[in-house]
Amino acid sequence: MTAPPQTQTELLVCTTCKMGLPVIEGEPRPGARLMAALQAMDWPEGLVVKPVECFSNCDQGCSVTLRGGAGRWTYVYGRLDPSKADIVFEGATRYHATADGLVPWRERPEHFRKNCIARIPPLETPE
Ligand code: FES
Repeated sequence: MTAPPQTQTELLVCTTCKMGLPVIEGEPRPGARLMAALQAMDWPEGLVVKPVECFSNCDQGCSVTLRGGAGRWTYVYGRLDPSKADIVFEGATRYHATADGLVPWRERPEHFRKNCIARIPPLETPE
């Protein structure tokens, strides 16, 4: 799968998510574990994984956001499990391959279909 020319995608990963679990001193939170798993993956050119702290979606498992440049939709996904980073990889690479951020419903990972927290229109509306 190849991204359209000049497409830039950011995969933002909340590193402070704790999945409702108690924080244990010295141990990474689930969000930080998800971030570490995603950073270890071989991403296509132009797709960048970045840590953030909190999307205000704290009670919904681990959360990530996919956003691109002008004309692309933004998506927030939740209820993610840090042991299943491959789901995020699949969904993010499919998003990256689009010009507008709209991945056909049937081509989204099942988890993404059922756990979209928000979708946000692009800054500029396509003509
Ligand atoms: S701590 Fe992750 S969304 Fe708030």
